[in-house]
Amino acid sequence: MTMPTPKPGVMEINPYVGGDSGLEGFDRVIKLSSNEGAFGPSPKAASAYRNIAKTLHLYPDGGMTDLRHAIGKVHGLDADQIVCGAGSDEIISLLCQAYAGEGDEVLYSQYGFLMYNISAKAAGATPVTAPEVDLTADVDALLAAVTDRTRILFLANPNNPTGTYLPISEVSRLRDGLRDDILLVIDAAYAEYVIREDYAEGNALVDAGDNVVVTRTFSKMHGLGGARLGWAYGPANVIDVLNRVRGPFNVNSAALVAGAAAIQDREFTGKVCAHNLKWLAWTREQLLELGLDVTDSVGNFLLVCFGAHPERTAQDADAALKAGGIIVRGMAGYGLPDCLRITVGLEEDMRAVVDVLRKFMGKNQ
Ligand SMILES: Cc1ncc(COP(=O)(O)O)c(C=O)c1O
Repeated sequence: MTMPTPKPGVMEINPYVGGDSGLEGFDRVIKLSSNEGAFGPSPKAASAYRNIAKTLHLYPDGGMTDLRHAIGKVHGLDADQIVCGAGSDEIISLLCQAYAGEGDEVLYSQYGFLMYNISAKAAGATPVTAPEVDLTADVDALLAAVTDRTRILFLANPNNPTGTYLPISEVSRLRDGLRDDILLVIDAAYAEYVIREDYAEGNALVDAGDNVVVTRTFSKMHGLGGARLGWAYGPANVIDVLNRVRGPFNVNSAALVAGAAAIQDREFTGKVCAHNLKWLAWTREQLLELGLDVTDSVGNFLLVCFGAHPERTAQDADAALKAGGIIVRGMAGYGLPDCLRITVGLEEDMRAVVDVLRKFMGKNQ
């Protein structure tokens, strides 16, 4: 029997599995599996979202003018060089569709965000990974993995799920080592959380040429994962391409107004950032004291590895956390079966995580 056949590569995709959100037997769970905002959305964003209900019969502004200008104002960027998408996932996918196809390679680091693999395959291209050093992207390894076929290089900075980052000097070195026809996509989904002095999201690299684009999201710091909203800052040539391939109304009206309100709510983002810094550091410290390996994450999550304790596996730790009503993310899909990724939630959430893991590690005194 014949049937419609998808493009080469499509059937090789392992569908993305999101973080669990429910546990049998628990009415209320502590969900720390998807790096969502600990405080929910900004109240101003929620209010803008509610207010749009009465005009939902109207198509959204396909040019996304108000939102792009709000983003431009807050970040000091030219609104004409901004394009928005239904999550930065959509932008990642559109970049692959537009710049890579059969016979082309899409390069990223070993533990890079999984959507690069999926989007490359969906575009018919071949995903290629370069080894990391200490769970951190390695510029030399990435440059060594470039071939004549490389069309796009994705660098999540900071990376999910490792939480590690490259200083901007290293990202510049990466850019300088690439041919001009290779698009460097700096995925800065967690940039808002990073306060390290040697870090920058990469906007200056966008301004310096035609082959760097920075992608951002409203799903993390701004707490709008459910609204699906992301954006890219790029040179005119890349923005033009994205505007050609995107759907005419790819961002819905509710996301447009919620996003514009969220990005201007500096009081809220300041509170989220301060909370994250405090509880990221506290949780990491506590888990290190338990003898666990924890990356020096700068995101809103921690990668916790149990490899040094063969008698106490990540799977068993996951089960212990679930028994306590806490959902975190298993990392087998990333080739890190010894590790769990734990999002920074509220204070009581983090105290609950540490209590369970303290007992699990047999250090309950
Ligand atoms: C590194 C990275 N990039 C992109 C995304 C996608 O975010 P969005 O919700 O904007 O599609 C995520 C989400 O987890 C992420 O971790």
